[in-house]
Amino acid sequence: MIDIRDRVRCKALHDKIVSAEEAAAFIKPGMNIGASGFTPAGYPKAVPLALAERMKKDPFKINLWTGASVGKELDGALAEVGGIHKRMPYQTNTELRNSLNNGQVEYFDLHLSESAQLTRYGFLGGKVDVAIVEACAITEEGHIVPTTSMGNTASFVQSADIVIVEVNTSQPLELEGMHDVYVPLDPPHRQPIPIVKVNDRIGTPYIPCGPDKIKYIVPCDISDDVRPFGPIDDNSQKMSELIIDFFKSEIKAGRLPKNMLPLQSGVGSVANAVITGFVNSDFTDLEVYTEVIQDGMLDLADAGKLKFASGTSFSPSPDGLARLYQNIGEYRTKMMLRPQEIANSPEIARRIGIIAMNTAIEFDIYGHVNSTHVMGTKMMNGIGGSGDFARNAYLTCFFSTSTAKNGAISSIVPMCSHIDHTEHDTDIFVTEMGLADVRGLSPRERARVIINNCAHPDYKPMLLDYLERAEKATKKAHTPHLVDEALSWHARFLETGTMKK
Ligand code: COA
Repeated sequence: MIDIRDRVRCKALHDKIVSAEEAAAFIKPGMNIGASGFTPAGYPKAVPLALAERMKKDPFKINLWTGASVGKELDGALAEVGGIHKRMPYQTNTELRNSLNNGQVEYFDLHLSESAQLTRYGFLGGKVDVAIVEACAITEEGHIVPTTSMGNTASFVQSADIVIVEVNTSQPLELEGMHDVYVPLDPPHRQPIPIVKVNDRIGTPYIPCGPDKIKYIVPCDISDDVRPFGPIDDNSQKMSELIIDFFKSEIKAGRLPKNMLPLQSGVGSVANAVITGFVNSDFTDLEVYTEVIQDGMLDLADAGKLKFASGTSFSPSPDGLARLYQNIGEYRTKMMLRPQEIANSPEIARRIGIIAMNTAIEFDIYGHVNSTHVMGTKMMNGIGGSGDFARNAYLTCFFSTSTAKNGAISSIVPMCSHIDHTEHDTDIFVTEMGLADVRGLSPRERARVIINNCAHPDYKPMLLDYLERAEKATKKAHTPHLVDEALSWHARFLETGTMKK
């Protein structure tokens, strides 16, 4: 067993160091497990792998609550053995995605900022029975120093009966001090969250726990299962250029300060391209208030363009992770991880005026957005934090390529087959075809701007034809629709393999 005693600074806890198998044996069928982790960062690995082995021999299920998606050793391993009954709040694992689209796993998809408080209220079928938490170290007082993510961990530890800590020696001790742990009180006792600047520090650098709650401590040296990013493709590059030009025109018009407002950027290729666009621009003193800190943020810091980045997890590529670890002394002066309840807080997003940039599966001519359901039925990942930011941002931008599946699908449709973000929340749409600024426009005005600026030429005439016929049929109703035809594009795709006529 790896020797972790120097990282467990509370000596009274040394007797609680056990193998992953021994700790996993404590988990009972039907328990609510609150695990650390947000993206493949900072999630427990050894105990879930041991639990999956146990479930293989003696099948049973647990309910799994995390910060967001996690790595293969947790979601993947437990989904493979059919060990999850109910999952919340977000996932990106292929095995798990299949299970929640074939009825094997119940999935509760919700705004990430709300997930901790819903577990504290007990709305999700009881409270956290066991929190399983990855740590860098345990302090002299028995408090937990997290690793590469904060997620919902502090809240899970607070409400759990029992805590199992995985001390991961692959995580550098220099991460200590990069966290700002603050769990709000629940209504009616909640106070304003006292953040007015992205780098305000309001909590402790550790998760308050104490030695008594900790049942077991397990050594682990498996590193975060971070994944490489693909190269920036032409479409993402084009969308990045369009949005950066738009920001420049907003600055010129006096609607944005020279160094912008705090940026929130989703994950994936477009988000990566947009942030890289900033690296190659003449912007300086940029601030980031987001969920996930990825390679682009490290690039911004290296280029001297980053004032500060606040997030809830470090989820770079393998190269980015090596860079983070190598230069952690430098990055720790410019980066901080907070609980997702604070990183995604609607209160903070509104106060500091976030610029939210997220990717959509599809959006419709009136500006509604589907971020989650393919053809209205199959869950892709989940809403994640996109709704926390979209509704509360100063400026809400959504990106999508104008078509999917080699042109067989138009990402701009008459009516979304599922709606995560409504027309009331959205400001800017960007595809590789162009940018639509729909602020202050009525639905009929919005539809023309979205179709003309964002739709692919193959679908533009079909969308305009739909709009004109809907206007005629409804005598220019506020939001014209042909209700028997609105979802016919999706029906056609399911029947024929293309939305084209
Ligand atoms: N209809 C059907 N399928 C579509 C589609 C559409 N309109 N648009 C995209 N797809 C498919 C793609 O073909 C691809 O399928 P494949 O994996 O079988 O090839 C898949 O959806 C992912 O598309 P991709 O273009 O690779 O998108 P992405 O990696 O940029 O992810 C989302 C896009 C919307 C799935 C992703 O951003 C997401 O989960 N968003 C919700 C949560 C969120 O916004 N988080 C951000 C942080 S707050």
